[in-house]
Amino acid sequence: MAKPRVLVTRAWPKAVEAKMAEAFELTLNRDDRPLGLADLRAALANYDAVLPTVTDKLPAQVFDLPEARTKILANYGVGFAHIDTAAAKSRGIAVTNTPDVLSECTADIAMTLMLMAARRAGEGERELREGRWTGWRPTHLIGSKVSGATLGIIGFGRIGQAMAQRAHHGFGMKILVQNRSAVASEILARYDAEQVPTVEDLLPRCDFVSLHCPGGSANRHLIDARRLDLMKPSAFLINTARGEVVDEYALAQALWFGTIGGAGLDVFEREPAIPPELLGADNLVMLPHLGSATRETREAMGFRVFENLQDFFAGRDPRDKVA
Ligand code: DGY
Repeated sequence: MAKPRVLVTRAWPKAVEAKMAEAFELTLNRDDRPLGLADLRAALANYDAVLPTVTDKLPAQVFDLPEARTKILANYGVGFAHIDTAAAKSRGIAVTNTPDVLSECTADIAMTLMLMAARRAGEGERELREGRWTGWRPTHLIGSKVSGATLGIIGFGRIGQAMAQRAHHGFGMKILVQNRSAVASEILARYDAEQVPTVEDLLPRCDFVSLHCPGGSANRHLIDARRLDLMKPSAFLINTARGEVVDEYALAQALWFGTIGGAGLDVFEREPAIPPELLGADNLVMLPHLGSATRETREAMGFRVFENLQDFFAGRDPRDKVA
């Protein structure tokens, strides 16, 4: 039987590409060039499986083609808001993602941002590199204490829980949770966490707020000017979820006018574009979407895609089917 034709849309870890090549007729993107809508529509016409990432936007219009050969979109990543899953489903195309394997590393990056923003690490590093440091003094770059502070977590799935684990057990933080459904009491008990009904209930009580909810239209600008106003003037906002969850212009205003203490962002609404208003804010730490970027995790994500494909082409339901 002919091997399924599979398109990997970006360059992946070599070990994963090699394993994939044994089982599938693989097309690789050696130049690592992001694909446009026309490329993706052509891919749906020509491949049995397409393996997109967050940089491949698959809105409904991409699925609007005479005949789709693709039967599965096996996404390399846990977030899949860049795929119109309803449109995929209407064309009989399954969608899978890669949960679990990246939770720890993404929570590590959220902690990194929280610590860097609170302790003004980015500002300190810039000062050193630019030769502006004049030596130790009692009032220099005074930050905010993380240990024992209150952390609000919005979205309490696997990554939110990995964040709670670090913050509560590592830093003695008090954990407040806001989640769209009720979190089981035994899960909350692991972190001595309290679930609050709404985002409005959570924001005014927190020293730090970390976002771990899905992206997409349902959560677009969940954190807007009105909600930023509910945060303490000393509080920090951390986003490792998706850029669209935060209104970046409202955040820039809050940072410039000091209505919040600072922020840490790993994700942006129009990646790789960063609004100039954010670039100039000193009380903001930014990273280029590094949440899952460790050797181990990027390989594990690829092997998870491989398992999903193997199941699918063997006629089994892939374990990470999301649509
Ligand atoms: C994820 O897995 O969702 C990462 O953000 C990359 O897409």
